[in-house]
Amino acid sequence: MQPGINIFIAIVCLGIAVGIVWRFASRRRELPCPAWLHWLVELDNPFTQTNRSAFIVEHLRLEQGMAVLDAGCGPGRLTVPVAKRVGAAGVVVAVDVQSGMLDRARQKVAAAGLGNVQFVPAGLGEGRLPGGYFDRALLITVLGEITNPKAALVEIFNALKPGGILSVTEVIFDPHFQGVGTVSALAGEAGFLIGQRWGHRLAFVQHLQKPSP
Ligand SMILES: C[S@@+](CC[C@H](N)C(=O)[O-])C[C@H]1O[C@@H](n2cnc3c(N)ncnc32)[C@H](O)[C@@H]1O
Repeated sequence: MQPGINIFIAIVCLGIAVGIVWRFASRRRELPCPAWLHWLVELDNPFTQTNRSAFIVEHLRLEQGMAVLDAGCGPGRLTVPVAKRVGAAGVVVAVDVQSGMLDRARQKVAAAGLGNVQFVPAGLGEGRLPGGYFDRALLITVLGEITNPKAALVEIFNALKPGGILSVTEVIFDPHFQGVGTVSALAGEAGFLIGQRWGHRLAFVQHLQKPSP
């Protein structure tokens, strides 16, 4: 076998091993995706359509003037296209527990010339979000990184307007991947109705809706 192929296989195996160790270590303590890996998060994975920003944004049915929560915004991969869609009359609130990620998101928002994004350095579930304020919320490859996902989902539920939609994306390549069953069970406990799902069990977008009275 060519040495180049051996090196490629070794790198792939190392990546898988790191992912597995990371996944199990995360069950004992909070180990979010580090801010220096922002470049990896910013890649639109060519193998998983459901994790591409264009796919997620397209299915949100956004309108000008809407208020959107980007929960666990990371380096702003979704923040920027969503802020463009809701326009100057709308607002995006970008929340992340890591200041390094928020700094990167701020840079991207500034480079895009957008003035409708607010940044909140906070952990989801800490009670920092306003009640009944958002039309849409995003939780894109974040759920498995949160130590208290139930508290986080309850906070997002309360922060949505009645009829508001939370879009959850999970992808098997993420060491913190959460399956369809786990997402649905946690969402149901928080009060969400289970909505439409796109993709398959290893890479999906799941919509969850806050019931209207
Ligand atoms: C894999 S990145 C995904 C970023 C972004 N949603 C995207 O798809 O491009 C996960 C992000 O969730 C953030 N995060 C993890 N736990 C969090 C928590 N408890 N509250 C808020 N953000 C959190 C991490 O800091 C990280 O930026």
